[in-house]
Amino acid sequence: MTRTWNFSPGPAVLPEAVLRRAQAALWDLDGSGIGVLEHSHRGKEFMAVLARAEALVRQLAAVPDDYDVLFLQGGASSQFFMVPMNFLGGATADYCVTGVWSEKAVEEARRFGTVHVACSSAAAGHTYIPGAAETTWSTAPAYAHFTSNNTIYGTQWTGEPAVPAGVPLVCDASSDIFSRPIDVARYALIYAGAQKNLGPSGVTLVIVKKELVAKGARDLPTMLQYRTFAANQSMYNTPPTFGIYVLAEVLRWIDELGGLPAMAARNRAKADLLYAELDRSPVFKGVVRADARSQMNVTFRGRNAAEDAAFVAFATARGLSGLAGHRSVGGMRASIYNAMELGGVQALVEAMQAFAAAHA
Ligand SMILES: Cc1ncc(COP(=O)(O)O)c(C=O)c1O
Repeated sequence: MTRTWNFSPGPAVLPEAVLRRAQAALWDLDGSGIGVLEHSHRGKEFMAVLARAEALVRQLAAVPDDYDVLFLQGGASSQFFMVPMNFLGGATADYCVTGVWSEKAVEEARRFGTVHVACSSAAAGHTYIPGAAETTWSTAPAYAHFTSNNTIYGTQWTGEPAVPAGVPLVCDASSDIFSRPIDVARYALIYAGAQKNLGPSGVTLVIVKKELVAKGARDLPTMLQYRTFAANQSMYNTPPTFGIYVLAEVLRWIDELGGLPAMAARNRAKADLLYAELDRSPVFKGVVRADARSQMNVTFRGRNAAEDAAFVAFATARGLSGLAGHRSVGGMRASIYNAMELGGVQALVEAMQAFAAAHA
């Protein structure tokens, strides 16, 4: 059977090696005679998986010792409220608004305090990343929040926003986590749903400074306090065991390929190939400003909506799936996360050229 090239924005393509290992582990995890879905989370086999997942997160991102690595549930969307619930307490937090996901994070934060929008690309349809000149920080905010990659629009920060010294920086890295090296020490908290770059849906990775965890509100339900998970190795209750298993295997795959620097080179090669085609195509054009182009979600359009629909159908017939843009923006979007092979992007470029030749 030939596999379809899967450009889905998430859940998304996973490395073949990971899928094959997971397939075997469903039947028998590490020679235990019991499948990964059937193991108790308190048994030594799953505890070894959990320890491996945490160790690989720490190793790949060089996570400093004064950070906790947590595996939570409820998706990145639950972090939209968990962060302000724990750390805002009626004060002001600064948000960089660069897309729908940051807007949703803002909406949740407003339930727990004041939101100061430090910068926003909304007026330009979120087609760029605001620079320092159009960003204003409030005085001593509880924290500053940004979304490192905007999955829907196809924009990505090239670095962190320049928050004033001492302001804890919080990042939703759901759609570019571990796609390139990250200096964890610059952040107070990083969160990411696993279903794009790290594994299946159902597990959310949180990397958080211990000092911040200790400051979290105490008058919250147990399951909504970070300290509960920090104090119990993410095992206060039954964790998402299968998701953590797959995540550990994805991290092993990243490590085997050479870690985050190798991911960055791999991702740059794919993105460069696709953007070069957009820059020369007589039919297709990139949607966002060149200096904000995402290496994970590449958004583009044909000359009109009918042509976009025709191209999506044309590509589907050639075994390229998931290319329709988000329903709120239209056009096309190719999600080329870590696990997407260069061959998939080459196949997409060939499809774009063949379509252009037939429709020029
Ligand atoms: C940047 C970003 N943040 C948050 C979310 C929401 O994640 P979840 O579905 O895990 O709640 C998404 C989902 O696509 C996303 O791309």
